[in-house]
Amino acid sequence: RCFKKVDSCFQRKFGTSTDATKTDAPNKKYKIEPKDGSKSFYTVQEEKIEQAERSVLISCPAKTNEKKFLQYLSRHGDINKCFFYESYGTYAVVEFANKESLKSLHEGTAIPSINHEATVPFKSRLLSLRNTGPLDLSNGQSAPQCQPQTTIPINDLIQRMSKEDSIDQQISSLTETYQLTEENVCLRFLVCSLLKDIAAAYFPECTIRPFGSSVNGFGKLGCDLDMFLDLDGISGRNLKKPKAGLSLEYQTKRSASERAATQSILSVIGECVDQFGPGCVGVQKILQARCPLVRFAHQPSGFQCDLTANNRVAMKSSELLYLYGGLDQRVRYLVFSVRCWARAHSITSSIPGAWITNFSLTVMVLFFLQRRTIPILPTLDHLKELAGPIDKSVIEGNDCTFVSDFTKIQLQDNTETLEQLLQEFFEFYGTFAFNRMSINIRKGREQNKPEVSPLHIQNPFEPALNVSKNVNGTQLERFVALCRESAWMLQQREFNLPHSGNGASTGNNAPWGLAALLMPSVSQAAGVKSRKKRKREPASERIKGLLDSLKNREEKKS
Ligand code: GTP
Ligand code: MG
Repeated sequence: RCFKKVDSCFQRKFGTSTDATKTDAPNKKYKIEPKDGSKSFYTVQEEKIEQAERSVLISCPAKTNEKKFLQYLSRHGDINKCFFYESYGTYAVVEFANKESLKSLHEGTAIPSINHEATVPFKSRLLSLRNTGPLDLSNGQSAPQCQPQTTIPINDLIQRMSKEDSIDQQISSLTETYQLTEENVCLRFLVCSLLKDIAAAYFPECTIRPFGSSVNGFGKLGCDLDMFLDLDGISGRNLKKPKAGLSLEYQTKRSASERAATQSILSVIGECVDQFGPGCVGVQKILQARCPLVRFAHQPSGFQCDLTANNRVAMKSSELLYLYGGLDQRVRYLVFSVRCWARAHSITSSIPGAWITNFSLTVMVLFFLQRRTIPILPTLDHLKELAGPIDKSVIEGNDCTFVSDFTKIQLQDNTETLEQLLQEFFEFYGTFAFNRMSINIRKGREQNKPEVSPLHIQNPFEPALNVSKNVNGTQLERFVALCRESAWMLQQREFNLPHSGNGASTGNNAPWGLAALLMPSVSQAAGVKSRKKRKREPASERIKGLLDSLKNREEKKS
């Protein structure tokens, strides 16, 4: 096949079947792996942006013969990578070895002439393969092998996990099933690059970068594509101006504020995407939001896209999450499990509202891992102390500096298993003093709440802001009730042992362990009503008993 070997760093970061936890015997202490070799966030970004610039997206007939297809395209130059996928038809992502190949490809490509309709002539890198001549590219019977771009339904995942032999293996199976594949990440960078071609009509030197879960290591197949229009290359911000003497400046239109400038930029780019962006549908300009954005669906990739501008803090947050996720494999495993558990019980939602977001939930997991007796993760303040001169970053007056080089970070020798951590996560937040305390990953310890919001999670880079300000009391209660119920279930021996009546060894694949925690019965047992038919119910006696037992345990510990 035409894939280049996946690089080992990528395998480590985005997971493979060779992950330590997968092969570990059940409940074996966690093995700490050396972390060097992980590339910095910006190194990965730059590499993938550059690869995307050499790539094209081609809509193909369903029965395209891969070999003939590659032969046909390789007339324009060497091909580094090619894969097929399905989304309203069959598509191929083709990465050429050299950018010059695109020029050659474009020279031999026509703008379609369509009867009764007109087209806007635009030479994009989204192409369609037509077969009008004697050259036969069809495969006869079979379609090319397609790479999945969406994940399996939750019930299939539950079944798959029930066949595993330990909770650690269940967690690893969940993560491997859900995480973004290398191909999906390439496609995300390619969509950003295609969009950049449109934005370049106004801003030739702009870059469009993915951020959020597409790049922070916590993305699930099918997650939205958050994009950031980066105009820093144009700003000349980094140019050294002479202290005295002559210098030149561009004359520009002035805007009343940064926000107003961002709104006008997104307004014209949004208009361009709507009018001329091939495959971009349902464009909405949401310019009055706290963070103005243009939302649309990119049909050829199937991605729901959010394009923002002047959003550097979110980019830094993505980098921080990427760093934390790359420090220790358990971080990603735990975040995937908790995110999936929260989604299964409608604690999180794809619709904005008063519920906890995936971002807040991830910060809660990071905080929990900082709070272990032997911390698994360092505090953000410590990461700042380790920063070098190139890491210096101040955004709108906020110091966002932290180390980017993985090798400078010394981890402590914590060997807790994923099963222990999951159990303790639920206990930790089942008994957390949310009424008084704020979660703070900068300090790595809880602090008194500065305001009355039910859930207070300090924004790591804008300390005056609460990232979970939107969460209301009911949603927090639902989260706490579910944590308690899940902690209680994980404490039950019969619930956790595949060998005593469940699991692969007995041939009985009834949901157990983490798989059972994803079942709707867990929310029912916790007295948590789904949002659709919300009706308050008194907490059951069992849950009260559980709370008391958890509190007693906490008191004994301290
Ligand atoms: P998904 O739910 O998988 O899309 O996760 P995500 O991490 O991509 O979240 P989302 O698309 O909601 O937001 C994208 C990025 O914006 C996040 O990764 C954060 O960097 C940032 N972000 C989202 N919500 C907040 C918030 O409330 N406060 C701050 N400071 N940043 C946020
Ligand atoms: Mg997102």
